[in-house]
Amino acid sequence: MAATQITAPPVAHVCQDLDLSVEQLRQVLELSAEMKRTPKQFAKALEGKYLALLFEKPSLRTAVGFELAMKQMGGDSVMANGTMGQREPVKDMARILGRWVHIMAARVFAQATVDELAQYSGVPVVNALSDLYHPCQALADVMTLKERFGGWDGLRVAYVGDGNNVAHSLMITAARLGAQVVIAAPKGYEPNPEIVAMARRGGEVLITNDPREAAAGAHAIYTDVWTSMGQEEETAVRMKAFQGYRVDDAMMSLASKDAIFLHCLPAHRGDEVTDSVIESPQSAVFDQAENRLHTQKALLYTLLKN
Ligand code: CP
Ligand code: NVA
Repeated sequence: MAATQITAPPVAHVCQDLDLSVEQLRQVLELSAEMKRTPKQFAKALEGKYLALLFEKPSLRTAVGFELAMKQMGGDSVMANGTMGQREPVKDMARILGRWVHIMAARVFAQATVDELAQYSGVPVVNALSDLYHPCQALADVMTLKERFGGWDGLRVAYVGDGNNVAHSLMITAARLGAQVVIAAPKGYEPNPEIVAMARRGGEVLITNDPREAAAGAHAIYTDVWTSMGQEEETAVRMKAFQGYRVDDAMMSLASKDAIFLHCLPAHRGDEVTDSVIESPQSAVFDQAENRLHTQKALLYTLLKN
């Protein structure tokens, strides 16, 4: 029996970060820490429960993290790879799988696909990365910040690079927990203005085109690949646009003395980050990757138990 004291109000889906209230977010993060400390306590928590993984793009951390999460809590998962909506409509897949499994996680090209799954599935749907959001990643990011700094208030989190899905979820989630988030992106690659406006309703988000300004005094410097999955044909143009945005030792030296380096991984060493930074004692990328498992366990538990 799961002995956790933590309960959350009903959560239908996590198609985007804001589907969790701040209270639910904090509860999931507390539960993540508890699951990390005492995993055995939850060994049978999801017995008889099944997760369907629908992945249109490759994944290590998210997909394997979800599979392991279900198994570690006594449940199991089934995998369906491939582009959705080609062989049959997304809404048909949603209704069929919804009769078999208790929850779904989908990695999709278009946010509309995960939203459509949620509309028809009848069971909770989790966004495992879309063009707009990566909410599972953001949970592990803020958990890692709390482990390293004890909380989020007063933290300055600098994200240097592409204003993409990872940047969107990070700025929403870290800002609503009390951190100041500064995004430095080249002109034309800034985060989506509507998502910036949404994030600003929850906390402090600054946008600049100057990576050094963002890095100055930061407690964490975060970056992601310059070319996301599905954008491969833009690689050459992006490589040019992002020159000056590489996180290297000089950029880390502008940050606070105790600053950490974060990256969602996989990393392209030599592009958005140097080997020296990602392998340095300041790098927290493997704690961050480990926390993908604990946070995904807590999210599944919360969605299935409430
Ligand atoms: N960071 C992340 O989502 O990794 P995967 O693409 O391996 O799932
Ligand atoms: N921004 C990257 C994140 C991968 C985890 C992508 O979408 O490919």
